Amino acid sequence: MKSPFPKSIFLGLLVAVAITALTSSVACAQSKPWIAPAVAQAMKNPVASTPDVLKAAKTLYITNCAPCHGEKGKGDGPAAASLTPHPADHTSAALRNEPDGSLFWKLSEGRTPMPQYKKILTETQRWQLIDYIRSLSKSK
Ligand code: HEC
Repeated sequence: MKSPFPKSIFLGLLVAVAITALTSSVACAQSKPWIAPAVAQAMKNPVASTPDVLKAAKTLYITNCAPCHGEKGKGDGPAAASLTPHPADHTSAALRNEPDGSLFWKLSEGRTPMPQYKKILTETQRWQLIDYIRSLSKSK
């Protein structure tokens, strides 16, 4: 052995440092407020909230979103208790005041533990879901 450190210790140390860096950056991202870029916030919903749209979106919502956000969007789905941060309450006053474009951007980009829905749902489906989220507040 030429080096004073056995290679395996060095590698182990490297892995430990990498894991620490990774987990702390994730923890840090989670504690930051989640704010959509101004351009995204200004986007207008091109999909009108008709009974047919809401019906299609409800099916999408129950399948994809309700496990975390709950069937009525209260943020109380079966998976919610074990998640940090907690899934958003889609009927809250804060969310009602948030522009459609902001919600659409967050839904599209995702943030752990929420998936990046631009990879899962079409643009039209995502706008339909924004219509549906709005309808949840109205029907309560
Ligand atoms: C795995 C659980 C999970 C699933 C599934 C999920 N979400 Fe989320 N969602 C979250 C969490 C957790 C947050 C809060 C994230 C944060 O604040 O960092 C969130 C936040 C959001 C927000 C942002 C709310 C705000 O405060 O502005 C929107 C909009 C949203 N979700 C919509 C949806 C829709 C629509 C679906 C289904 C297509 C969905 N989510 C599926 C967990 C989930």
